Amino acid sequence: MRGKLITLEGMDGAGKSTHIPSIIQLLESRGLEVVSTREPGGTPLGEKLRELLLNEAMHPETETLLMFAARREHIATVIEPALARGAWVLSDRFTDATYAYQCGGRGVSAEKVIALEQWVQGDLQPDATLLFDVPVEVSVSRLASARMPDKFERESAEFFTKIRNAYLQRASENPARFRLINSNQALEAVQANVKEIVMAL
Ligand code: TYD
Repeated sequence: MRGKLITLEGMDGAGKSTHIPSIIQLLESRGLEVVSTREPGGTPLGEKLRELLLNEAMHPETETLLMFAARREHIATVIEPALARGAWVLSDRFTDATYAYQCGGRGVSAEKVIALEQWVQGDLQPDATLLFDVPVEVSVSRLASARMPDKFERESAEFFTKIRNAYLQRASENPARFRLINSNQALEAVQANVKEIVMAL
């Protein structure tokens, strides 16, 4: 039986990465093989592209094309083979991040991203997407204490407002796929919410 693709999304500072180990544990406790990965990255080439994407200034469309180049490699060498053998793939970010950051944040046209998405993904879409949502002030104040902020993490509150709005818009357009998580609560409460969602999957 084919596995499932679960993606995690949210603004920088929304706290999604904190929940990855417990999600893996939950799925493995149900006897599933779990492949935990991330974007941009997830392959040796993709990690090199990530280095560039997170550190170098570039034209927004160059950024978009490199995100999809990394994604093509990721799908071909990691995601598809894993799903085909029945593993569940947990990806820390996927294409919704491109709609949020490159379209919402940088103003790249959605039509261009739709074309790239069709080219690179064909019919592949996440089976479920957990969107960790926090108010922009919370995300910005968490990022202010980050040790070595990357190119995206150095962006303004105005940029993050666009990211958040773009994510919430994606969620409202795809209600069957998205699970919205209020990440502005005590960690235990968020954890309980995540557990409930994952068990239902
Ligand atoms: P992130 O997932 O936040 O990793 P970390 O927790 O290690 O900082 O970093 C990835 C960054 O890449 C994040 O700021 C969002 C950005 N990004 C895009 O702009 N577009 C995309 O398509 C993807 C996958 C990520």
